Amino acid sequence: MTTPKKLFIKTYGCQMNVYDSERMAEALGGQGYVETQTPDDADMILLNTCHIREKAAEKIYSELGRYKGLKADKPDLKIGVAGCVAQAEGQEIMRRQPMVDLVVGPQSYHRLPEMEARTRAGEKALDTDFPEEDKFEKLKGRPKAQRGPTAFLTVQEGCDKFCAFCVVPYTRGAEVSRPVDRILAEARDLVERGVREITLLGQNVNAYHGAGPDGSEYTLAKLIWDLDKVDGLERIRFTTSHPNDMTDDLIEAHGTCSKLMPYLHLPVQSGSDTILKRMNRSHTADSYLRLIERIRAARPDILMSGDFIVGFPEETEADFQATLDLVEEVKYGYAYSFKYSTRPGTPAAERPQVDPAEADDRLQRLQGLITRQQRDIQNSMVGRTVNVLFEKPGRLPGQMGGKSEYLHAVHVADAPVGIGDIAPVRIVDAAANSLAGVID
Ligand code: 5AD
Ligand code: SF4
Repeated sequence: MTTPKKLFIKTYGCQMNVYDSERMAEALGGQGYVETQTPDDADMILLNTCHIREKAAEKIYSELGRYKGLKADKPDLKIGVAGCVAQAEGQEIMRRQPMVDLVVGPQSYHRLPEMEARTRAGEKALDTDFPEEDKFEKLKGRPKAQRGPTAFLTVQEGCDKFCAFCVVPYTRGAEVSRPVDRILAEARDLVERGVREITLLGQNVNAYHGAGPDGSEYTLAKLIWDLDKVDGLERIRFTTSHPNDMTDDLIEAHGTCSKLMPYLHLPVQSGSDTILKRMNRSHTADSYLRLIERIRAARPDILMSGDFIVGFPEETEADFQATLDLVEEVKYGYAYSFKYSTRPGTPAAERPQVDPAEADDRLQRLQGLITRQQRDIQNSMVGRTVNVLFEKPGRLPGQMGGKSEYLHAVHVADAPVGIGDIAPVRIVDAAANSLAGVID
């Protein structure tokens, strides 16, 4: 028997990359690789990268620099770069870091096994195509390992929205939805392997428009209703959504589909209409607020989450105040805020930039407000009973941890439950990042 080769994958960026890394590990599993948790004993190191902000991309080059010594000690070690930096920079990566053997974009990683074989023959392998074939179909039929209780499932990729700051339409390409029957088959397979909660992923997941079994076009809501019928699947989530694609049937599903969890990540980016227009968002602050009213009318306890960019080109203090006002009005359970990062090739990169010190100051003020809101909402959970899907043992002996329907991390001491169980938990205490409870 040959000893398996070891694969170390490091994942950066969004949940779609987490999903893609799992698929790449499965693909290379067919080449005799098993995963290892450290680069030190690896035969192949694969960085699955993110290009969304400048810092994310720069991190890759410094990480690669760290592997120089490893490669010098072990010339057989293969180093690969996958994901959105690979797509955006292509050959440039090998020019800047000649020790890189393989560069593969997010749409071509089903070709990894054959690319890996080429690197073993001493060649360099580069593939950043947008091929016609369905990479997920090409990756089917891999060994079926038991899974934890939660999983991601990519249903849609790419984006046609072209927000003025964003590289996604260039790195991930145009919107493509996977057909319904393939998604259902993958969901059933995940459930057989122990999964109880599936998060449907897409850069613009609520723009989902895949072909149904009868050839008709499905909406995301229709797909969710089909998944609702999968026995053993208890929870459905989806991310990330665009406000303009929140269709009536999806809003309604939040009120009527019991498996659909009361949590919605709905980025707005800014509260200023001037900035939203310059961002090419095609919605206003007011239309976003009215949309949330409708969503909350369907599901009053829904927990809202969002993304914000501060210091977008030409953003004034008054524009920023409008963002603070919007956050005050919505009251987010979670929100992610970023300082604008110039991305070459995007329209906003050409506009007059905001002073970085001013942008830093705005980011701090916004994050302060968001943290206060998150804390208030977490504190308001004390005394309430939530349903927790238990995912893993906690840090203390006998403790179990999981997530409530609102995605809050909850831990329970001496919990008479196993991994994968869902149980009602009364919240007794709220800390900065988690809630403590007792089985009700
Ligand atoms: N600069 C800062 N943040 C950005 N995002 C996307 N592009 C940029 C950029 N150029 C943020 C948006 C998006 C999230 C995934 O990343 O808020 O919703
Ligand atoms: Fe980027 Fe806008 Fe598309 Fe989201 S909707 S991926 S922010 S272009």
